[in-house]
Amino acid sequence: MPGNNQSPDRKTVIVGKAICRLAAVAPWAWPLVGSSVGRFFDRAAAGWDERTSAGSASHLAALAAGLDALQAKPERVLDLGCGTGAGSLFLAREFPTASIRGVDISESMIGQARGKIGLDPEGRVSFRVGDASSLPFADDSFDLVTQVNMPVFFREIARVLRPGGGVILATSHGDHTPFSTPERLVRRKLTSQGFAAIGSGAAGEGTWISARLDESR
Ligand SMILES: C[S@@+](CC[C@H](N)C(=O)[O-])C[C@H]1O[C@@H](n2cnc3c(N)ncnc32)[C@H](O)[C@@H]1O
Repeated sequence: MPGNNQSPDRKTVIVGKAICRLAAVAPWAWPLVGSSVGRFFDRAAAGWDERTSAGSASHLAALAAGLDALQAKPERVLDLGCGTGAGSLFLAREFPTASIRGVDISESMIGQARGKIGLDPEGRVSFRVGDASSLPFADDSFDLVTQVNMPVFFREIARVLRPGGGVILATSHGDHTPFSTPERLVRRKLTSQGFAAIGSGAAGEGTWISARLDESR
């Protein structure tokens, strides 16, 4: 399903995109589908990295390009829909003094991600089960929020970001990614939530959109 390196079938793409559209335009309806999505990814977690090449250069190319464009120097980073932790661990390498929090609705995905944390006595990198539609963090907790191949919950991202903080929404396979949201819709929603300096681009097979939350917000 979403993010898969093998070409996903047509039904998967249609269902994935419908789920992303729902999250973008009617996040209040997420409880109707959230637990099914979590169960789906619980089943998909074993072997995820092998099937999707999660963590490979091509999988993370768009995230890396978005980071370059944003020129962020974050201290607190949140990676939403972190899956098995590939993006979060990449961010930990990119920002060696930042704290990195990975959140995913699937317990099995979080189990896989936790298994990759090496010696980290200060708890700089941690993973927890959580729903991006209702995040377990206080307002203004982060200065960078990222996500790769994941539905977008705009209001929650704006809430947990401090003013001036940045966001990167990346896909590994652009429009062919089942969990992807049309750029026009993303731009409209970002603007309505107080984001500015919206940029976008492509890298490898993937795409990225970056933005900053207004300082004055
Ligand atoms: C396509 S996978 C991508 C995983 C990872 N980012 C990657 O690229 O390998 C989507 C992930 O988002 C998670 N997810 C979906 N909806 C979510 C939500 N509302 N809150 C948190 N995680 C969610 C799924 O459990 C799954 O692990």
